[in-house]
Amino acid sequence: MDPAGSPGRLRSATVVLGVAGGIAAYKAAELTRRLVEAGAHVCPVLTESAERFVGAATLSALASEPVRTSLFEEPEPIPHTSLGQRADLVIVAPATARVIAAYAAGLSSDLLVATLLATRAPVLVCPAMHTEMWEHPAVRENLATLRRRGVHVLEPDTGRLAGGDVGAGRLPDTARILEAAEAALAAEAGRRDLAGLRLLVTAGGTREPVDAVRYLSNRSSGKQGRAIALAAAERGAEVVLVSTVPAEPGPRLEVVPVETAEEMAAAVAARAAGADVVVMAAAVADFRPKAPAATKLKKRDGVPEIVLEPTPDILAGLGARKRPGQVLVGFAAETGDVVAEARRKLESKGADLLVGNDVSAHEVGFGWDTNAVTIVSRTAAVEVPLSSKREIAEAVLDAALAELRAARGGPPGPQGEPQT
Ligand code: PMT
Repeated sequence: MDPAGSPGRLRSATVVLGVAGGIAAYKAAELTRRLVEAGAHVCPVLTESAERFVGAATLSALASEPVRTSLFEEPEPIPHTSLGQRADLVIVAPATARVIAAYAAGLSSDLLVATLLATRAPVLVCPAMHTEMWEHPAVRENLATLRRRGVHVLEPDTGRLAGGDVGAGRLPDTARILEAAEAALAAEAGRRDLAGLRLLVTAGGTREPVDAVRYLSNRSSGKQGRAIALAAAERGAEVVLVSTVPAEPGPRLEVVPVETAEEMAAAVAARAAGADVVVMAAAVADFRPKAPAATKLKKRDGVPEIVLEPTPDILAGLGARKRPGQVLVGFAAETGDVVAEARRKLESKGADLLVGNDVSAHEVGFGWDTNAVTIVSRTAAVEVPLSSKREIAEAVLDAALAELRAARGGPPGPQGEPQT
């Protein structure tokens, strides 16, 4: 146990402590001190109105870094993204009705809300306000929205409020906030079930040049592959996304841009040996023009005859070189018997899982934000009904993790080695 009486997840955690403008802001000084005593690195962020209730100099003296207050007057050019990315946990105590509303609505009106929007760390919101405000439907609905998005909310206590009234809306004791912070960190650790694993994911349709300006391609938007890469990074994996469509890198997420099947094959080959799981969600062209013209083909020269040749089959190549303990996941975009085709490709390409989607169905496959799939393994076929691509991604990752555990005879360790 540390001095704060907590089991220790706060030790060496970077905590962004957001303080909004309510009378309970004075309690942020005590909270900062207890967080630092618990071993956390505390970066305080005050809203403009919080500064009317608590002195920035007080918090700066108690915290691990000086107080930040503005999106524009900090030495760093974009303080909200650097704070958001560095944070292991963001606590907002007290959280006012305004900050809760801005966070729920996605309005990055100040440094605190911008940081909340720019973080993937768990967030603990500790509302404190007068009872009438606490019970207002707008506040309740905004908090329900935040909870639905996975934000931790610590309900206020009932007790004496500013002005002498008694009711619900009081900021809970510092000890309870610390307990809730530990619980939020513990919940996050449970969600990081892919920590220590390396994933290689492909996304998008390859573009095969016809001449200097034209190419052959398909309708893949890269959304499904990108959703898998993002979900895996959020679950703690180190992820490389090889993508034909632009994608933002992020924490634990490297993006390698490619265009053709040849480039994708080379990018994958260079990284596959170190990957615990490879997910081929890209729609790789099966054929490419054999002799693309170096200049633009002219209309006046007549209709060109384009001779095609096969591209390298990246997944089949990986299947042939697969090392024990590695899991290969392919996708199959089908318009007929999805399960039979997925099973055939599972065998012929040496994959462990084949995710079939019927791309002739409405809202399924290419370009949509939704998908519906059947995840085929050697022993089962599990249907995932129409869902967001993010939900499909989670289901694919769950299946890949189960496959990895089965292949390694227990909890998976990194780099393809069974854990001892
Ligand atoms: O990108 P979105 O718009 O979100 O759409 C998602 C999707 C429909 C593209 C995705 O869900 C999907 O089905 N991806 C695979 C599409 C495809 O190319 O299927 P296929 O049956 O042609 O190929 C089977 C598997 O072999 C795939 O994993 C593919 O990546 C791989 N392959 C194919 C050809 C080739 N030359 N090399 C390969 O590795």
